[in-house]
Amino acid sequence: MSFPQNRLRRLRRSEPLRALVRETTLDPGDLIYPLFLCPGEGVRREVSSMPGVFNLSVDEAVREAEEAAQLGIGGLLLFGLPESKDETGTGAWDENGIVQQGLRALKASSAAKRLVLIADVCLCEYTSHGHCGIVVQHGDSFEVDNDPSLELLARTAVSLTAAGADVVAPSDMMDGRVAAIRAALDKASLMQTPILSYASKFASAFYGPFREAADSAPQFGDRRSYQMDGANLREAMREIELDLAEGADMILMKPAMPYLDVVRAARDRYGMPMGAYQVSGEYSMLHAAFQRGWLDPTRAMLESLAGIRRAGADFIVTYFAKDAAKLIG
Ligand code: PBG
Repeated sequence: MSFPQNRLRRLRRSEPLRALVRETTLDPGDLIYPLFLCPGEGVRREVSSMPGVFNLSVDEAVREAEEAAQLGIGGLLLFGLPESKDETGTGAWDENGIVQQGLRALKASSAAKRLVLIADVCLCEYTSHGHCGIVVQHGDSFEVDNDPSLELLARTAVSLTAAGADVVAPSDMMDGRVAAIRAALDKASLMQTPILSYASKFASAFYGPFREAADSAPQFGDRRSYQMDGANLREAMREIELDLAEGADMILMKPAMPYLDVVRAARDRYGMPMGAYQVSGEYSMLHAAFQRGWLDPTRAMLESLAGIRRAGADFIVTYFAKDAAKLIG
């Protein structure tokens, strides 16, 4: 049967009808809100390339978390701006590191009962060179040395979990980090802590504003020798497969919008819980258009999030989490 018996417009005539047949839902509980913790007290410093995103001291982060919990947001993803940086990123696993302090304060707050506290595990915010692992120089060129970096990442994951992280999320893209982190957590009797692996992470221009927010831009070179080439879908599937074999409990796909086909392919192929990260550049790009009046903020934001869910993500890491939760909660 076709037209005129079939008229798809019949089910689009009112919002209740549209709601009844809507295929994709978006709940505040599906959203994860990234926070950037910085030293000090009462600090709330806006990131210039990310309107509405702030570097927050721990006390301010607790306030932000309470608001997020009230809005029904699913969890927080924590990043840190340490007091000082060095070659090996010691601040990442320092017991009194910035995220460790934040985790202890958040755990003690009422928000912790309603939010999953996810700690990003990486060295780039803590190394003086801004790379995600240990750097070795070879004359004029350099290499991010995979295997020695694993031990530092594992140490970081244990330290963050001991401080109160419910989930650890390695974003460094070293080979073998999931296995190294799993082994270290188990050895520390933290076998119940899940790993959310950024399994499919592309070397992307869309991380630009984040590097301002987290002060983590590489001082030389780029990340293309460890993050994936944006042209590769099959390789993304291999990354996921290996991370699952190493013991990842959930995976994160990143960025979201330019890679929705990768999200869909992963969803069709694997059964594990999966999130997608609507990264800083996706957020800033939309905001730039909002500021010029070129896009309707509410509609464009919700459409971008619904698209990521429709592609197959169970949850979305997004800087829009609070704004979206206010609209859909
Ligand atoms: C750390 C990390 C990055 C992001 C998340 N974790 C930056 C990078 O890899 O350069 C990017 C997030 C965003 O752009 O919002 N490795």
